[in-house]
Amino acid sequence: MVHYASADAETISSAVSYACLAPSVHNIQPWSWRLRRGELSLYVDRRRSIPIEDPSGRQLVISCGAALHHLRVALEHNLLEPIVATLPDRTDPDLLASITFRGRAEPIGSSAALFSTLERRRTDRRPFDPPRAGALTGLVVNAREFEASMTVIVRRYGAMLDKASRIAAQEHRSDTAYWNELEAWTTPDGAEAGVPLGALPDALSSHEDVSARAFPSGHLKIQRGARDNAALVLLSTASDTPKDWLNAGQALSSVLLHATASHLATCPLTHLTEVEASREIVRDVACRSGETFQNPQIMIRIGLSSHSAETASGQAQLGATEPVVSGRRTVEEVLTVVP
Ligand SMILES: Cc1cc2nc3c(=O)[nH]c(=O)nc-3n(C[C@H](O)[C@H](O)[C@H](O)COP(=O)(O)O)c2cc1C
Repeated sequence: MVHYASADAETISSAVSYACLAPSVHNIQPWSWRLRRGELSLYVDRRRSIPIEDPSGRQLVISCGAALHHLRVALEHNLLEPIVATLPDRTDPDLLASITFRGRAEPIGSSAALFSTLERRRTDRRPFDPPRAGALTGLVVNAREFEASMTVIVRRYGAMLDKASRIAAQEHRSDTAYWNELEAWTTPDGAEAGVPLGALPDALSSHEDVSARAFPSGHLKIQRGARDNAALVLLSTASDTPKDWLNAGQALSSVLLHATASHLATCPLTHLTEVEASREIVRDVACRSGETFQNPQIMIRIGLSSHSAETASGQAQLGATEPVVSGRRTVEEVLTVVP
């Protein structure tokens, strides 16, 4: 006799705790979950918004999309197939998804391999070596599953991206309100939200260019003179609605987890897609790189960590430190179980 998994509150609560490991803009964790009569609802929590940097809430919804995909992976690992209705209530735009569950006898697709990456994936702001040839091909398919498109940005257009970067940096640098908001989400190591200082390069290592948002200086020490040779990829969507943002977030999570499973290091980047003038240049570069979707959502730096055992330079680097792992709110803080 086949035994199907049951969607009891304990199993769902455990899956939500894995969903909370998802990446989110500045580690804001803008999600709130509600479990009632066997149905789980995912809401965007706008009390945790960053109105200066993200006035439309696009990056909040992308972050929730990443959490939704993490939830899928955790449920499927438990032999529960999620039946997901996205933006199910026109009168409540903050309700991003309603999820019901169907027990399965067999694991689904690649969920077993991905489950083990949920606790390993990290945003890594150190320079990377280039990924091996062909390593990005499968990731394109992973993004497509959620109606997003992934393009590898052709390095030939580096000068255009440098220009986009200068425009974004200039706009950010001159905006005190932007800096105040960013500083508010730059937090001491061990805090339950925000980007920990130990995950941010120190003043000697930090840089402001295509491949890095300028953050307040942290205390992550990077090997002196290390060059970044990461591949830069872009996730785009056909239109630019909350549904597209949710899909982009699911695609982001899928790409990051599959990359982690392939021992690739990753860093999501949105500094170039949140300023309209630089987003326009990114759109142009993507188009020249073969992209047909017109709405750039998020870039990802992907490569081999210079600190990973896979590279020739993998031996301990003098004076370099490991990034601090970012904190998370507890499942009790984000999940309401309605009896
Ligand atoms: C929508 C979104 C935008 C992000 N933008 C950036 C960015 O511009 N620069 C950066 O270094 N990290 C960026 N990140 C990564 C977050 O800072 C990171 O996910 C968060 O601090 C949690 O850390 P973790 O990914 O190591 O768990 C972004 C993540 C998301 C989901």
